Amino acid sequence: MNRIIFFGGKGGVGKTTCSASYALYQAKRGLKTLLVSTDPAHSTSDIFERKINDTISNLLPNLDAIEIDGEKESKKYMDDIRVSLKQIVSPIIVEQINKQIDAASISPGTEEAALFDKMIEIIIEKVDEYDRIIFDTAPTGHTLRLLSLPELLGAWLETLIQKRSKSVNLMSMALKGHKASDKDLEKDEVISILKRRYDKVLAAKKIMMDDHLLSFIFVINAEKLPIDETVKAINILEKYNVMVSGIIVNRILPDNMQDEFWISKKIEEQKYLNIIKETFKNKKIYTLPLLKEDMKANNIGIIADMFADLVKS
Ligand SMILES: Nc1ncnc2c1ncn2[C@@H]1O[C@H](COP(=O)(O)OP(=O)(O)OP(=O)(O)O)[C@@H](O)[C@H]1O
Ligand SMILES: [Mg+2]
Repeated sequence: MNRIIFFGGKGGVGKTTCSASYALYQAKRGLKTLLVSTDPAHSTSDIFERKINDTISNLLPNLDAIEIDGEKESKKYMDDIRVSLKQIVSPIIVEQINKQIDAASISPGTEEAALFDKMIEIIIEKVDEYDRIIFDTAPTGHTLRLLSLPELLGAWLETLIQKRSKSVNLMSMALKGHKASDKDLEKDEVISILKRRYDKVLAAKKIMMDDHLLSFIFVINAEKLPIDETVKAINILEKYNVMVSGIIVNRILPDNMQDEFWISKKIEEQKYLNIIKETFKNKKIYTLPLLKEDMKANNIGIIADMFADLVKS
């Protein structure tokens, strides 16, 4: 069974509900579990009716949680870059670079890169400490962009390392009359910063493609749009060799509908359930009922107990 599980899906389908309940189920069966939320709306705090912040804290027996704040991580990420740069370039250039960093920190890509960095840091540092690490993600598009980052960052860092090696070689030619040795290249501060980032990206890629370690569960409702969006998402993830292990169809209506409106709703739901079975026939499909009330701390256990029947591993 995978130790790192991402819950993905279209907005509002029940990702936070399912990931929180699933984490609670794992904790109840005695596995040390960490629930990580990347949702800026802080829904995990709402569901457990407890403040969860950006350092890991204990919620319930065997269950720890953390909420990553993209904006805050983005600021920290940029500050780190500022500090690294200060060590290697002149003060005049630092000022120019700082302006560019400030401009970059409000661009949308930066928050994603920072979030991704933090997620990878948690995985690398905590994978041996916890039996399960469960991620509640933001709606599909955002998560997919996040997962395609290693590919982009990897290629970008490779180019930067090559460029920097070239200029170190040129400097060495000018000063010493020969190319820089491997040792000289290793000693270069810029190359070593870039290499450290590159190694981290490679480690992230390796983890994401390890289907014994990491998998995705998509949450959908028995409706057209969540199904279509999930088909597209699965195609993209499988292109990146990320494993998708299951589909949860959330908010299934009760069987004994009386009213004409709800009877026809139920018929429509059955039609979509058949489509879901056909479309995702090579995945495990779980169903969860629509509960009378919204998910809160007092009824999250109901769904957690249902997972005990649904999932056997
Ligand atoms: N099975 C269910 N029965 C009753 N209410 C549910 C169920 N699943 C989810 N809900 C309710 O639906 C709403 C949306 O659920 P949730 O927050 O889990 O979705 P989400 O996919 O995480 O949304 P977002 O994309 O905004 O992060 C919440 O109010 C939640 O309490
Ligand atoms: Mg959510």
